[in-house]
Amino acid sequence: LARGSDVDDLRGRHVVVSAGGTREPLDPVRFLGNRSSGLQGYALARAAVARGAEVTLVSANVTLPDPAGVKVVRVGTTSELRDAVVSAAAAADAVVMAAAPADFRPVDVSDSKIKKADDGTAPTIDLVQNPDVLAEISRERGRADSVVVGFAAETGDDAGSVLDHARAKLARKGCDLLVVNDVSGGAVFGSPDNQAVVLGSDGSATEVPRGTKADLAHVIWDHVAARLNR
Ligand code: CTP
Ligand code: CA
Repeated sequence: LARGSDVDDLRGRHVVVSAGGTREPLDPVRFLGNRSSGLQGYALARAAVARGAEVTLVSANVTLPDPAGVKVVRVGTTSELRDAVVSAAAAADAVVMAAAPADFRPVDVSDSKIKKADDGTAPTIDLVQNPDVLAEISRERGRADSVVVGFAAETGDDAGSVLDHARAKLARKGCDLLVVNDVSGGAVFGSPDNQAVVLGSDGSATEVPRGTKADLAHVIWDHVAARLNR
């Protein structure tokens, strides 16, 4: 499946990929964060370079080596990620939001370390919602013909199946493609493999066979390139 070596279908294109998980500080030593490893975003960046693209990788708290030939922009919080992605997206042909932005941040960030109280009580942390980067870049396109891709890890529940939730999310976000991982059975985070369905705003659904994150990255770029070149 390693199509990247012989396909040049992103030559002359500028793509933006976000990767990793954002962290929202509580005080100088603590944060709210998540377990995103950045592996899928980094695989996407490498695959895009292999297919000839100019790549900007907005990387949130990832401990992987910089992929060769990629412009890496490091960010910490969701607001920083938003600013970096919006700025890079202005001139981009495609944006793939593989990062896991923290949905909430503390209302107040303490300048000094929060100390334990002697009476055994714990502090209450008030949270506020972070900006939705995917919804914003889908709504306000740098280029009208750009392709915007989101990711979603979903579980089925009483309200609907994995694909029901994913379809609703695709519509809510306004992106062109949504890469859906079914996480009902176990974790995807940190795993070298991935299984997914690629949903299109045109109603299409393509099942991606289980494979590596590099394999999935190439399938995603196949979809992006098909939309850019049609
Ligand atoms: N995303 C984003 N900005 C946010 C949160 C999410 O751009 N503040 C992007 C993610 O990078 C991903 C997509 O939106 O590509 C879906 O993320 P997800 O967490 O599933 O969506 P949410 O709208 O946060 O919904 P949920 O309540 O299920 O977490
Ligand atoms: Ca979320």
